[in-house]
Amino acid sequence: MSAIRSVVLGSGGYLPERVMTNGELSGMVDTSDEWITQRTGIRERRIAADGELTSDLGIEAARSALAKANMTADDIDLIVLATATPDNTFPAAAVSIQEALGMRHGAAFDLQAVCSGFLFALSTADSLIRSGQARRALVIGAETFSRILDWTDRGTCVLFGDGAGAVVLSGESQPGWRTDRGILSAHLRSDGRFKEKLYVDGGPSATGTVGHLRMEGREVFKHAVSMVSDVIEDAFEATGFTAADIDWFVPHQANVRIIDATAKKLGIPLEKVVRTVDRHGNTSAASIPLALWEASKDGRIKRGDLLLLESMGGGFTWGAVLLRW
Ligand code: ACO
Repeated sequence: MSAIRSVVLGSGGYLPERVMTNGELSGMVDTSDEWITQRTGIRERRIAADGELTSDLGIEAARSALAKANMTADDIDLIVLATATPDNTFPAAAVSIQEALGMRHGAAFDLQAVCSGFLFALSTADSLIRSGQARRALVIGAETFSRILDWTDRGTCVLFGDGAGAVVLSGESQPGWRTDRGILSAHLRSDGRFKEKLYVDGGPSATGTVGHLRMEGREVFKHAVSMVSDVIEDAFEATGFTAADIDWFVPHQANVRIIDATAKKLGIPLEKVVRTVDRHGNTSAASIPLALWEASKDGRIKRGDLLLLESMGGGFTWGAVLLRW
């Protein structure tokens, strides 16, 4: 019994040049390098330049993923961009990426699930590929959270950064076994009862403004480990894999304490955890593809490795994906 699987053929990323350190932030709000490092593990983050848009970051990430896959936009028939910080309310920032890549066919759209956006986009692209509606997809996470931060709120402005990551997915015929390459299982969740724990206080329909990010950090923290662990257990149950089978754990990069507590709860050794939060901060939908890019580029993630991806974000939304590289 063969199966079509969405296989990652290349990954890419892009980080804006400007580095903002904790030291710089301590000159802007009442905080310190020690507080930020101890509570979050973040040491620095990148900030997009004036006029540098989410689509600009996404274009660079897409180009680097295409180059790694030895492909051009002609080989792609779908772009799914996960972002909560699009260039404009509409059109989708994905069509700006499509235009810049010179892609005149197929379809491009944005998808919004905040920090879980990349896993929601990956799962959507996988479904379109397996149903035969698309053959090859660029799945991108790109964010400029610096534009929606309240730079006077020390509880949030120290946590986030800008960046973009991307993967090229290709529908490939595989034997239909657990040893297949590609996306093996995807599990998505949301619960709108928590929508006020982490939100932006503006929007086209509500206020006609963009608004700023607001968060009850302690509440998010409280739910993060248990929600994420639950959905990972679902992924294990659906596939028969266990924590011992995982070669690399690639979590959403919000806070090193959440990452390490989740790994510990699941029994995944810390040497198998990919962490970028110290240098990137929380880049929302971009954090997982940036981590994939970094760990595949430096040779940690190799072809055939079994990866566990997880995320949790505003909504709340959360999810887990098992993927063989
Ligand atoms: N510097 C110094 N002190 C600070 C800062 C700061 N930057 N921020 C808050 N504090 C203070 C608070 O005012 C509070 O002071 P008080 O005790 O006098 O009232 C104290 O530090 C403790 O605050 P807590 O919020 O309880 O600190 P906590 O240990 O929970 O850490 C943090 C806060 C880092 C935000 C943590 O709760 C967290 O990481 N939460 C999860 C956030 C997260 O994952 N968000 C992203 C989801 S992704 C998405 O969808 C966008």
